[in-house]
Amino acid sequence: MDATVNVNGVVTDGDHAVVSVFDHGFLYGDGVYETLRTYNRQPFLLDRHLARLRASADRLALDVPPTDSDLETRMQQTMSRVNPGGEVTVRVLVTRGVGELTYDPAACPHPTVVIIARPHRDTPDSMLRDGVSVVVASVLRNHPRSVDPSIKSNNLLNNVLAMQEAFRQGAYEAILLNHRGELAECSQSNLFAVRDGVVLTPPLDAGLLEGVTRNFLFEVGADIGVPVHEAVLREADLERVDELFITSTTREVVPVVRVGQQPIGSGRPGPVAARLLTRFRALADALTRAPVTS
Ligand code: PDD
Repeated sequence: MDATVNVNGVVTDGDHAVVSVFDHGFLYGDGVYETLRTYNRQPFLLDRHLARLRASADRLALDVPPTDSDLETRMQQTMSRVNPGGEVTVRVLVTRGVGELTYDPAACPHPTVVIIARPHRDTPDSMLRDGVSVVVASVLRNHPRSVDPSIKSNNLLNNVLAMQEAFRQGAYEAILLNHRGELAECSQSNLFAVRDGVVLTPPLDAGLLEGVTRNFLFEVGADIGVPVHEAVLREADLERVDELFITSTTREVVPVVRVGQQPIGSGRPGPVAARLLTRFRALADALTRAPVTS
């Protein structure tokens, strides 16, 4: 593992990082996480990620004892020697902690806090140039009254099962439909379509993770005069869209040119996704650059 890991404040290399088998994160997937990446070696939109981490933890009645500034310090300590001169991907996990084999949260008085820092790998240029293909998974996105997709939890079987379908078909991602048959999101990313110059993405009510990148994209669009709106989308709509793309922290904006056997639009990456990505990167760079001091 090319990683540096911080377990409850203790930093080791990836191969020596240890969590107990009695941790309820391992036993039950009882925990939450965030994935961040750096630009200019600064965690991007850190405040938004930490706010979502705490919101997710609240939904599980899970305490996150370190303050935001403690978490940031731990993050900086963990990533300081990772990929010198390059960028870093950071995963922050908070689990219920170690305790008896019971669902009673009182059995686990001390949450486990883990930070994993790894070299960041950009989406290959070939994927941006040629686009990727995705599938529509047969497994549905969790119903919001089951394990609510708006909670970024360590309980990821729904995503794993969808992505297994994509792997089996040689696809890059899996789109998940919700219980109403609407497009919700992908196994690890949010979904956007472009129709007549307008960018559309499923509403939160469709049951999805409110991606930090998704939210930022509304701002990126506003910045370059590209309207970005929420809209209910169905599988049949894919026949009528000009472009399709996905977003996530680690992938930024990736054009999708095929869903199953069906080409999207011209079958080539489109101009709107490309413009959004260019502006997205420029803003990420500007927001993480140290202010020039005279
Ligand atoms: N995945 N939807 C799901 C189900 C996700 O797991 C993710 C993120 C997103 C995009 O969210 P954001 O823009 O905040 O990264 C949407 C991260 C990258 C992961 O699983 O590591």
